[in-house]
Amino acid sequence: MKPVKIGVLGLGTVGGGTVNVLKRNAKEISRRAGREIVVTCASARDLTRKRSCDTQDIRLSTDPYEIINDSEIDIVLELIGGTSLAKELVLQAIANGKHVVTANKALIALHGNEIFSAASKANVIVAYEAAVAGGIPIIKAIREGLSGNHINWLAGIINGTGNFILTEMRDKGRDFNDVLKEAQALGYAESDPTFDVEGIDAGHKLMILASIAFGIPLQFENVYTEGITKITRADVEYANELGYRIKHLGIARKTKAGIELRVHPTLIPERRLLANVDGVMNAVLVNADAVGPTLYYGAGAGAEATASAVIADVVDVARALTLNSINKVPHLAFQEDSIADLHILTHEQIETAYYLRLTVEDKPGTLAQITQILAQQNISIEAILQKEPLPDQTLVQIIMLTQKTIEKEMDDAISTIKNLSSVTGQVTRIRLETLG
Ligand code: NDP
Ligand code: HSE
Repeated sequence: MKPVKIGVLGLGTVGGGTVNVLKRNAKEISRRAGREIVVTCASARDLTRKRSCDTQDIRLSTDPYEIINDSEIDIVLELIGGTSLAKELVLQAIANGKHVVTANKALIALHGNEIFSAASKANVIVAYEAAVAGGIPIIKAIREGLSGNHINWLAGIINGTGNFILTEMRDKGRDFNDVLKEAQALGYAESDPTFDVEGIDAGHKLMILASIAFGIPLQFENVYTEGITKITRADVEYANELGYRIKHLGIARKTKAGIELRVHPTLIPERRLLANVDGVMNAVLVNADAVGPTLYYGAGAGAEATASAVIADVVDVARALTLNSINKVPHLAFQEDSIADLHILTHEQIETAYYLRLTVEDKPGTLAQITQILAQQNISIEAILQKEPLPDQTLVQIIMLTQKTIEKEMDDAISTIKNLSSVTGQVTRIRLETLG
């Protein structure tokens, strides 16, 4: 049988890793795919740049259109990133009858509805396993492995860079910017790293997961995103003292009122497996009605871990080509005419518990005022920690854990607390999930 011919757009971290693994594991991969898989051409911006992979037998070009218009190419790998050129290239490749494998979560989260619709009409596959949680086969697990279940919620550490930064800050007391630079050098970070640290990248991934878990259209604009830039070492230490870890979580939950889609730093009990997912590792906990909780763990970023997911998609496409049965699995898990536009909750409507840190004057009555404001908003306190004032200082830190409440009630309570004359500066609020 003829080999399956691949054209690779982008030879950076993921493109280079993919070419390397395809070459190193060629025999094993073709045993699985039923066909030989050959990279025949690839594009990058600067052909003089030293590459991490051997490009000797690959035709190189600076023009990605040369690849998508090449009639010999069966599968195009979009590994450029971004949403402008990548979208044009993917839609053109589909129009040209090519199957597409992409690692681009921004592209899928923002333009996936349009891309999948075009792919279905053209009867080609667009596969995107590498777009979420790097090397973890989470798309396949949810879309296929859990298809007998009603999925209740999922929660995951889905940005490797952010988790790497939080872990290094906690374990080694390292500086935020210093660790971010290392994550960039290791190829973990997005080309614009604010996507990693401000929660946008995790938001893209959460949207994709929620879509395939609940059968809803992709709608990134409805995801609440908050990053890790405001987390201080003090918060990390106080959380530890209370038996919690701060992790940057993406949470999608189906409630009677609607669907919660949110990404933010979260306190989780240290005994939970998710609390112990460190460094660049990612993990996604899925709670489904029949199987109960299942946890998926692995490297969330990096050249070969991501290549593993890209190549799994390539093998799926190669098998489909060989069996001549296209799109057996719907792109967003549910049949296209069964995608339901369920109500998405605003962040003010979500229900969660909280960690609060306040800087207050050390005088009688202050704590009573604060607890009264919380009580007025029906917010129950779970634990309180008051730190000794530093020598010669009258200000103390108060840390509180609350029970679950609706976020609007907490927003209102915080605005009132901030106006108290005994409270100084900002009130730090981090959401807390027990994930039970
Ligand atoms: P890199 O920046 O390392 O590589 C991008 C590649 O695309 C480079 O080879 C670059 O060329 C090429 N390129 C960029 N812009 C253009 C353009 N305008 N025209 C032609 N070629 C272009 O990115 P990554 O490999 O890290 O990421 C690629 C995709 O994979 C992104 O969507 C990212 O979100 C996703 N991803 C990344 C992971 C990771 O761990 N890095 C993990 C999972 C997904 P040149 O080399 O000449 O500059
Ligand atoms: N920048 C992303 C991360 C790459 O750090 O998780 C993997 O999607």
